Amino acid sequence: MALPNDNIEEKTRQVLSGHAHILNLSLSFINTMSLKCAIQLGIPDIIHSHGRAMTLSDFVNTLSINKSRGQDCVYRLMCILIHAGLFIEEEEEGYLLTPNSRLLLKDEPLSLVPLVYSGLDPNSMDPFHYLSQWFQNDDSFASIYGKSLYEYAEKEPILNHLLNEGMASDTRLVMSVLIQNGKGLLFEGLKSLVDVGGGTGTVAKAIVDAFPQINCTVFELLHVIEGLEGSKNLNFVGGDMFNSIPCADAVLLKWILHNWEDEDCIKILKKCKEAIPSKENGGRVIIIEIVIMDQNKDDKSYETQLFYDMLMMVLLGGKERSEQEWAKLFLDAGFSDYNIIPILGLRSVIEVYP
Ligand SMILES: C[S@@+](CC[C@H](N)C(=O)[O-])C[C@H]1O[C@@H](n2cnc3c(N)ncnc32)[C@H](O)[C@@H]1O
Repeated sequence: MALPNDNIEEKTRQVLSGHAHILNLSLSFINTMSLKCAIQLGIPDIIHSHGRAMTLSDFVNTLSINKSRGQDCVYRLMCILIHAGLFIEEEEEGYLLTPNSRLLLKDEPLSLVPLVYSGLDPNSMDPFHYLSQWFQNDDSFASIYGKSLYEYAEKEPILNHLLNEGMASDTRLVMSVLIQNGKGLLFEGLKSLVDVGGGTGTVAKAIVDAFPQINCTVFELLHVIEGLEGSKNLNFVGGDMFNSIPCADAVLLKWILHNWEDEDCIKILKKCKEAIPSKENGGRVIIIEIVIMDQNKDDKSYETQLFYDMLMMVLLGGKERSEQEWAKLFLDAGFSDYNIIPILGLRSVIEVYP
């Protein structure tokens, strides 16, 4: 029996909409690669240095490219980058930065370029080509390289540097928000703090600059802090957080627990608890992590949280967590209470009390 016309129209509409949706998903990597190209060609810096809107012809003349690519190719690249929210085009005047692309400037103190590069490194991206095999077989990173990301970084100074710089750039942004917006209150009253897995000390340096009365210890794997010098109230200690953590009023864990599965997180949290005084004496663990907020599922931030969850699953066997999942971890590790402070966009500060 023939379908009524409006049914056929509806079916056609669904097929065409599905076609557009699937093609969009399959080509979304072009956004990522166009971002990488924009950074590598120095596009944000060129437009910024121009000091006003930059016409296409001025822009093409300044870019260091093979001139046979010409205006047409550059124009098409810029269309994608404008659509992605990185630039705007003023009619007849030319290209301008947006607040987003300011975070891609070379000399911007809060530049996210190192974080973008570490995410776009083949070591981070290649395992995703083997995602289905990963589901069917063993750990993807280990199956490709024979060791975990951190073990690999220990042997590969370039990867080690890339990862550490990526983390440090993220940290500069987070600490600037925390300290400038008065959320430095988090650190007030503390005499000592240990930043566990604190990388090359970017967080600790920001804390001791803002709060010179706090003695900060960066506790890290030896190869990460090798050759780094402390100062009067900042010191670097090498070690393994699964064995023991130096004692302090507070322990900071920024972007640590999402690298690990629940069982390992509980071990780390128990070591943190051993390192701090009671709640009455001011002891606390300060965690900076994603708390998956699925109320606004259409929000880009939710999608980014899901991206990070997949990244952690594939690269490190870790995960991003909802509030319920965090609460369970804290309880299982013997903590009595926690407070989530959603002040960091994608991420939150979580204070956890013994
Ligand atoms: C995702 S990075 C976070 C770095 C830093 N907290 C930040 O947010 O910029 C995780 C850090 O944990 C460190 N790490 C991994 N395993 C560790 C261990 N067993 N003991 C101490 N640190 C460790 C890594 O070297 C790395 O610097």
